[in-house]
Formats: sequence, structure tokens, C-alpha cells
Amino acid sequence: MYDLITKKKRGGELTKEEIYYFITGCVENTIPNEQQAALLMAIWAQGMTDRETTEMTLAMAESGDMMDLSSLPGVKVDKHSTGGVGDKTTLVVGPLASATGLTVAKMSGRGLGHTGGTIDKLESIPGFRTSLTMEEFFDGVRKNGLALMGQTGELVPADKKLYAMRDIISAVDSIPLIASSIMSKKLAAGTDVILLDVKMGSGAFMKTLEDAEKLAQTMVAIGEAAGKRTEALITDMNQPLGFAIGNALEVAEAAEVLHGNGPEDVREESLMLSAELLYLAGRGHRDECRRVAEEALRSGKALEKFCAMVRTQGGDDSVIRDPSRFARAPVVREVLAPRDGYIVGMAAEYIGGVSVMLGAGRDDLGDAVDPVAGILLKKKYGDGVERGEVIATLLTSKEDAVAEAEKRFLSAVTIGDEPPAPRPLIYARVGKDGVVRFDV
Ligand code: URA
Repeated sequence: MYDLITKKKRGGELTKEEIYYFITGCVENTIPNEQQAALLMAIWAQGMTDRETTEMTLAMAESGDMMDLSSLPGVKVDKHSTGGVGDKTTLVVGPLASATGLTVAKMSGRGLGHTGGTIDKLESIPGFRTSLTMEEFFDGVRKNGLALMGQTGELVPADKKLYAMRDIISAVDSIPLIASSIMSKKLAAGTDVILLDVKMGSGAFMKTLEDAEKLAQTMVAIGEAAGKRTEALITDMNQPLGFAIGNALEVAEAAEVLHGNGPEDVREESLMLSAELLYLAGRGHRDECRRVAEEALRSGKALEKFCAMVRTQGGDDSVIRDPSRFARAPVVREVLAPRDGYIVGMAAEYIGGVSVMLGAGRDDLGDAVDPVAGILLKKKYGDGVERGEVIATLLTSKEDAVAEAEKRFLSAVTIGDEPPAPRPLIYARVGKDGVVRFDV
């Protein structure tokens, strides 16, 4: 390990054997934590070549079980976000994709730092079970074409180890480390199609379009080299997606979209992602795929898929049919605009942090989340506001957290004199043939 650290520290390239030695040693705990941390920091500082990143990804994917979905019918698809605030698109895209005949057998994660996680969100549905046996998971997919469960302990143990280490030594924001972390889990999950939603902006790991494109290209190259149809969309995370942040609040908003209502950005991003999944699954031209996705939403078929999955996994689908039935938080605080003007900034990262303070996320790994806590935005980027007008409602069970949360929320919002330039929702599409930038 000493030699490996020295080599990487000086900008050298690790061999395949060295990478496998490192990953195996991390999983088997034969390498001291200090040396694991040192090599990760050397990689953070020096980067890795495409070959090293691919070999690291494969070594990580092979560190535990690899899912075999071949006994399931249809094209198995997966959509994965690199992490955002208010991003509930999986709850729309999963049902939508299965309503168009694609097979969605998806393992999702919990919230991480200021970003939310699909499993925490789903657990706010009364009775819904995210811990399934493999048999239950496969039965759910066969029955509904859709099942969502938490990651099992046996999948990619190397990532659990390395991610926790990166988190405490400040080495998360590295393109090769993020790419190998995400793609090792995607390869181990065993789907035929991988669609990556790479978030870009203040609330994302990637702050610039150039970095987001580089991360997307790295991940697409790894997926394609492993024989999976892989693409990425680069989407905006300079402000939260939709109006709702927090577990039950986000499920309710996703349900609204499935009912044909809900915020335009959540609806549009979900349709884009669903159409792209259809395209990658070989279901025709992009225009035709978009039409099919829109029809699955309009007809209510996607809503029915969501309800069917909820019932199969033990949940009460009445809250999906009527989202107003979700329990309400006991403490409600309206945040008022301090001046007249326009919202010119809504820092997603800080707003995600406020929702964690209110109880929607965790400070420590073992903490429980409060399903009803979170934020309902009333205004977003570009909206005009008058002094004293409500810009957001904070919801929590923690009376003592609300004053500080309000202060922090206000510091995350910038009000200017002039309306800001509009910002696109989707910046670019990255495929094996290159990058297509949209109206940036
Ligand atoms: N999400 C992951 O799964 N891994 C990372 O490294 C970053 C985001």
C-alpha cells in the first residue's frame, strides 16, 4: 500500500492488479484505514485515467453479489440521479416506464447529506415495505413490472466502505471516485439499460456544465464498455426540483404529477427521462418515445402502476389516490419575503440542509427521518415577490428547530431588483457518440 500511495501521489497510473489489491483489501479489512484514506486522497488530488476508473468500477462491482435479472421478462431499465434536492423523479419515472412495458427492478438509496433518497421517501407511505427478500422483489416485478427496494448488504460492499471513508476525509467530489461509486452499483444491479441523471449546479456535486459533462462521459463510457446501453441527461440543480422537499411532501407531489397535475419542472424532467429510457430500450425514435410516455401519464396508467406497487409492497395506496390524506406536520412556519423584488437565487444545497434540520434527513447514519418534515416552496427562481408575501412554508415536528431553520432558509434565497435570465431545466444529453447541448 505504501508503494501504491507513493505512486499515485506522484501522478502515476495504477495497474489492474494494484486496483484489485486495494479494493479487495478494503473489503476484507486487511488494509489499515489510514492507508485507505491516503490512497483515496491521492486519487482525489491526481485523478485517474479512463482505464483506471473502469478497472476500479469493475473491481468494486465484483466485490459482492451481482444481480441476475435475466429470469425477468422485458427490457430491464434503471434511472439513477447523482443526488439532488426535491428530486422525486424516480417516483414518476418508475411507474411511467413500467406503464409503457419496460421492466423496472430498482434498488434505491437513502438520503445522503443535503440530498434526499427514494427509500426514505417511499417509507413515508403508511405500511410500505422497502426491505424485501429477493423472492418478494422478483415477484413484485413479475406482477407489476415495477418494484423498488433498499440496497441489500451484499451488493457492492466496497462502495459502502469507500463512500463512508470519502465522506469523512472530504474526498467525495472527485469525478473518478463518483463515477466508480455510481457505476459499480449500476453494473451490480444487472439492468440492460442505464440512464443517468447528472445534476449540475449549486445543489449538486458537479457545479459546472464542464464537470457534469466529464462525469457523464466517464460513466457512459464505463456502462457501454460493460455492454449496457448507457446515457446521461445533465439537469439543473441550482434550485430544488418542484415545490416540495421532504419525504411525504415529495411523494405527494410525485402523485400529483401522476394525476396529471403537479409542477411543470417535475413533469417535464420525468417525461424526458421516461422517453429516453424508451429510446435506449429500442422503442423507436425519440419523438415517438415521448408520445408514448405522455400517453402513459395522460391515461392514468402510470398512476395505476404506482398504486399497484404500493399495495404489493404492503402500503396504503389511498394516500397516492388522494395525496391530501398524508399526515401533516404539527409545526408550520411561513417564511415571508423581506423585500420586494425577484427571486434571483435559491441555493439548493442550503435549502436541502434546512430540510435536514427540520427532520427530513439525517445528521448521523443511524438517525430516523421524520416523514412529515420538510419545505413547501411557494416561490421559485425568477418569480416576483412583495415584502411580507409567503415564499415558503417550513413543516416539522421539532418546535425548537424552526427559528434557526427560517433564518437559514432566508439566507439561501437571494432577492434582486430585476428578473433574472431564465435557466434551462435540461442542459445536455451525453451518449456514446458524444454530447448534445440544449439551449444553454
Ligand atoms: N452518489 C453515489 O452513489 N456515489 C457518489 O460517489 C456520489 C453520489
